[in-house]
Amino acid sequence: MSRVRLGAALGLVGTAFLCVSFAQSQPGRGVTIQGKQPQAATPEPIAETKLLMNGLAAANLRGLGKLLREKPTDAEAWAFARGQSLIIAETGNLLLMRPPRTAGQELWLGHAADLRDSADKLARAVAAKDYPKARANLASLANVCNRCHQAFQVPNRVDPFTEE
Ligand code: HEC
Repeated sequence: MSRVRLGAALGLVGTAFLCVSFAQSQPGRGVTIQGKQPQAATPEPIAETKLLMNGLAAANLRGLGKLLREKPTDAEAWAFARGQSLIIAETGNLLLMRPPRTAGQELWLGHAADLRDSADKLARAVAAKDYPKARANLASLANVCNRCHQAFQVPNRVDPFTEE
């Protein structure tokens, strides 16, 4: 390779490297910042728990209550219900990052893991289009919500089959 072509190739590599490090340092938490040692990226809570409750947990549980009020007739409704279940399962993961600062951390982590597992189970019943099982799993999921609320003295009681 001639000296000129080698220089051009290295220039390209350099450009690509700059683009990558720029993209990584954009939103900026736990990522590589130019000139510093790379840090391990770790999950970090951003939104308040209340927002996750309303925007993720309650919104999707309400949606599931509506979709599963009667047996879904089309594949799209089943697919939508599966997605809503999985978003609640992921909410369990997000809650695992947010134990209370003072007491009850273990209790919290247990309920958050229950939420994830229970919603995952519901997603599987929905994926199998097993309506009786999906209804039963949705009721169990709502119990997980209520058990955590009870444990942490949250006055909110959820019932996916009666909410509008
Ligand atoms: C790991 C514990 C935990 C689980 C599991 C949990 N919640 Fe909550 N929830 C809380 C806490 C704590 C609050 C109070 C948050 C606050 O006011 O800051 C809350 C509050 C709420 C609220 C009231 C929000 C407001 O505006 O005051 C709703 C609605 C709610 N949760 C729905 C749900 C639903 C639906 C589920 C299940 C799919 C669920 N939660 C599962 C802990 C939990």
